[in-house]
Amino acid sequence: MAAHTATRRIVLAMTGASGVPYTVRLLEALSNAPGVEPHLIVSDAALKVMALESDTTLQDLSAMAAQVYTQKDLAAGPASGSWLHAGMVVCPCSMASLAAIANGFGANLIHRAADVTLKEGRKLILVTRETPLNQIHIQNMLQASQAGAVLLPACPGFYHQPQSIGELVDQIVGRVLDRLEVEHQLGPRWAEE
Ligand SMILES: Cc1cc2nc3c(=O)[nH]c(=O)nc-3n(C[C@H](O)[C@H](O)[C@H](O)COP(=O)(O)O)c2cc1C
Repeated sequence: MAAHTATRRIVLAMTGASGVPYTVRLLEALSNAPGVEPHLIVSDAALKVMALESDTTLQDLSAMAAQVYTQKDLAAGPASGSWLHAGMVVCPCSMASLAAIANGFGANLIHRAADVTLKEGRKLILVTRETPLNQIHIQNMLQASQAGAVLLPACPGFYHQPQSIGELVDQIVGRVLDRLEVEHQLGPRWAEE
């Protein structure tokens, strides 16, 4: 794939923060979007959290991704700047992965791919999830933002009067898709209902 072809690769990395429904919905939307090819990287901790907080399996996710990588696969495409893609999302993004990304550690594929995304001037979106935040988290967020990452915390609003968890999830996923410039019909838009 080249940047000028119709297919757009999107790298979706899932880390061990709470929020499996966000990953599932985002992957679903990306896999259904015309011309989008989602590549999924899953951390070891993400697998653990997924088993603890959901019925989703890696097989369910694999069915929606063009390719799936483990965090150990440092020779995979997303580890190199010559492997073109149209953006990377870490969703959900743990504070541990935020720290690694903000400080340029490339010891696993997720952190390496994020580092490469920033060095190549591509879009990197971090859907962080933790509360409350300590000063280290806040400093890492600032540092990642200054390096070019988009900080998009998983904190949905209530002004659209959501009626279900699904609507709250869709609100965040919709904002991610907006940033990726992927068209979607998820959730209402202010002053457009
Ligand atoms: C059930 C469960 C929920 C967790 N939720 C969060 C969370 O919301 N945010 C966070 O930063 N870490 C959370 N953690 C801790 C991370 O999984 C842990 O820091 C891990 O090392 C992250 O690794 P990774 O970034 O490589 O996936 C959670 C752990 C467990 C077991």
